[in-house]
Amino acid sequence: MAAQAGVSDWTGRRVLVTGASSGIGAALARDLASHGATVGICARRTDLLQQVLADCRRSVPDCRAWTIDLADLGRLDDFVARVEDTLGRIDVLVNNAALALAGPATTTPWADIEQLLRVDYLSPVRLTLAALPAMRARGSGQILTLSSMAARMSTPGEAAYAAPKAALTAWFEALAGELWDSGITVHLVYPALIDVQTDADGDDALAETPNVATNIPAPVCARAIRRQLERGDLELYVPTPARDAVVQRALDTRASVELMANWYRAGSPH
Ligand SMILES: NC(=O)c1ccc[n+]([C@@H]2O[C@H](COP(=O)([O-])OP(=O)(O)OC[C@H]3O[C@@H](n4cnc5c(N)ncnc54)[C@H](OP(=O)(O)O)[C@@H]3O)[C@@H](O)[C@H]2O)c1
Repeated sequence: MAAQAGVSDWTGRRVLVTGASSGIGAALARDLASHGATVGICARRTDLLQQVLADCRRSVPDCRAWTIDLADLGRLDDFVARVEDTLGRIDVLVNNAALALAGPATTTPWADIEQLLRVDYLSPVRLTLAALPAMRARGSGQILTLSSMAARMSTPGEAAYAAPKAALTAWFEALAGELWDSGITVHLVYPALIDVQTDADGDDALAETPNVATNIPAPVCARAIRRQLERGDLELYVPTPARDAVVQRALDTRASVELMANWYRAGSPH
């Protein structure tokens, strides 16, 4: 069994975090900078990005921010080249940016289905393909992607969101196999419910809570992701017991889908 290389010291490591203007991405950027990483962040909302950048720069003045719409796939190769130029290299690419959308599969507008595919699936794949050549040349790097429990437990009312997340899992698991023992490691994160509406923090023990319906503060999720990168683990469920629900679903998918159908009929907002 080959080892997954991890991180023992963040000082001087160059990390690009996409979608860092809010939520998990912002919390992760702040956390990594506070541990000494030089963080590059990007998103569309410049004002929010600048606030996160100011926090990161209190720890590491060389942190940088870029305003970019990741749906504009044709710009992403140049964007990665610009980040590599400015930061010197990308040691860790964090594909965090995503759009969330709820709605019945049959009535979700086609334009929304396409936009979610672009932002949630095609853009992380494109960024990864652009960042890989320099990582390969150095023989090292980490690529971490935020999937979702929705990828593993697709439920009624979230088809357009769950499908690109499931595609991410398929693509990055295949990539992990192709890069095995190359010095470049691939990491996937499966959050259940993360609170990104408030600035609340909480105890790290929440990342282990057996109640998978717990709303886990974004900074707790961010620290769990940092520890995943430090250990070099392929997968992280937040909270970790959410993995048991995925195993259960795989063992009896019909029963799980029927349960969700009943839940949907009883209380669906859609
Ligand atoms: N929160 C949860 O319960 C949960 C559960 C499972 C998985 N996840 C995953 O965790 C990740 C972070 O989610 P979050 O909850 O922290 O969401 P969030 O607060 O809405 O953050 C999403 C980030 O993505 C950026 N983004 C969206 N569209 C973009 C685009 N076209 N171009 C550039 N940036 C874009 C947003 O920035 P701008 O709007 O400024 O562009 C924002 O910074 C996502 O991949 C999400 O699917 C979250």
